[in-house]
Amino acid sequence: MLQAWGEAPIKQFVHEAVEEALRLESALAKLDTSQRVAVLHYSPIQETVEGEPCDILPFLGSSRLEEPLNRFSVAFALHGHAHHGQVEGRTSSNIPVYNVSMPLLKKHFPDQPPFRLLEVPV
Ligand SMILES: [Fe+2]
Repeated sequence: MLQAWGEAPIKQFVHEAVEEALRLESALAKLDTSQRVAVLHYSPIQETVEGEPCDILPFLGSSRLEEPLNRFSVAFALHGHAHHGQVEGRTSSNIPVYNVSMPLLKKHFPDQPPFRLLEVPV
């Protein structure tokens, strides 16, 4: 989680991450369903970006996105953007997080088409 200090462009970047987390929270709150699945561009946890160069980790996701996933007990979350991370991880509340970036899926599952088939628990 990058903090809002220093120059204006960094503060703007952090502001965008905060806004993204608020939009996620609002969207999850509006769902009147028995199960929720979150589809994100950026990773909500560090685990699925590990393997990427450490100097770009703050630009591959934000732990600000994790809290709404935990609070609304989503079934699982999907994200892309981190092409050299890990295919699976878990939030601090044990919610599965899947990195489904196509280059990563092609690399990790070379003998199958680059997609994941996931079952939403009932
Ligand atoms: Fe991206």
